[in-house]
Amino acid sequence: MLFKELNLCKCKTYLIACDVQNQAVLVDPVLENIERYLAVLAYNGLKLIDVIDTHTHADHRSGCTLLSELTDAKIVMHRLAPHPLVDVHVDEGDELKVGNIVIKVLYTPGHTPDGIALVLDDRVLTGDTLMIRGTGRTDFAGGNPAEEYDSIIEKLFSLPDETLVFPAHDYRGNTQSTIGEEKQKNPRILGKSKEQFIHVMENLGLPLPDKIQEVLQLNQTELDDDLYELPSIAELNRIFQLEPNEIKTFLGQSTPQVLIDVRSEAEFNGELGHIEGSILIPLDKLSENIEKLEKYKNDNIIVICRSGARSTTAAALLTGMGFENVSNLRGGMLAWNEAANK
Ligand SMILES: [Fe+2]
Repeated sequence: MLFKELNLCKCKTYLIACDVQNQAVLVDPVLENIERYLAVLAYNGLKLIDVIDTHTHADHRSGCTLLSELTDAKIVMHRLAPHPLVDVHVDEGDELKVGNIVIKVLYTPGHTPDGIALVLDDRVLTGDTLMIRGTGRTDFAGGNPAEEYDSIIEKLFSLPDETLVFPAHDYRGNTQSTIGEEKQKNPRILGKSKEQFIHVMENLGLPLPDKIQEVLQLNQTELDDDLYELPSIAELNRIFQLEPNEIKTFLGQSTPQVLIDVRSEAEFNGELGHIEGSILIPLDKLSENIEKLEKYKNDNIIVICRSGARSTTAAALLTGMGFENVSNLRGGMLAWNEAANK
């Protein structure tokens, strides 16, 4: 196996390659370093088969979309990832094969709802859930300290102590650790109950990363188009979030509800299906369809996507365009289908 960290800085991208079958994956590639990655792949004679984001990043633009376009590598993310172009949605226990190498997926939410860790024979890529002597912050982008604690204690800490740990970020110049070391020395977790951990994480008082709102939304939506000025966090937070059962109740009433689904056509007609009567207007086509939507300007509009992130952006864009009553389906079609199956 060939294993390398390619950015050589605080933000880590890992190359995992099988040198028998010359297949490779890149984990957490950064958009601005793509030429470097392609050079390393070419230098080693490797075919890129998958690009994997361990979670939706808020500090850098993901390189997954462009790498996938340039090389035909498949984009792999957790099933809750909002990114519109994911080819392979994975979940707990799934396995990815890179030549002779098997990568096992652990679902490790907490830093974000779509966090995964990637387990190889002797090592684990922990994303931003478990870092060296630290843990990923949980104060934005759907973070949840209780979930992060469970992901670390129940999943990552159940790996053998000698397992090598490779995080997605390190701010102190560390390159690797082990599960055993983190159990003994990670100050965020050592000797702390779940309640104490939650208290610590809720009181870190860290400033938000620069440009978080653009970076996060671009990674969630891939709406990289000068036509759109992405909504601010305040504008996103003002969008009213509706639960699936609330929407079902509204649909049974006489007041008209306009359902706008902002996924791609392939997703609209894909495995998650769509809500009967919903109008398909992919997020990147919102602007060109605005005239078609004019007649709904004073109606109650509910926006829908896969996981609820893209549609919150769409709802805020519509609100900014003068639509009065725009709400969002919280959790998107994933939540809708889950509610239907209960
Ligand atoms: Fe992160």
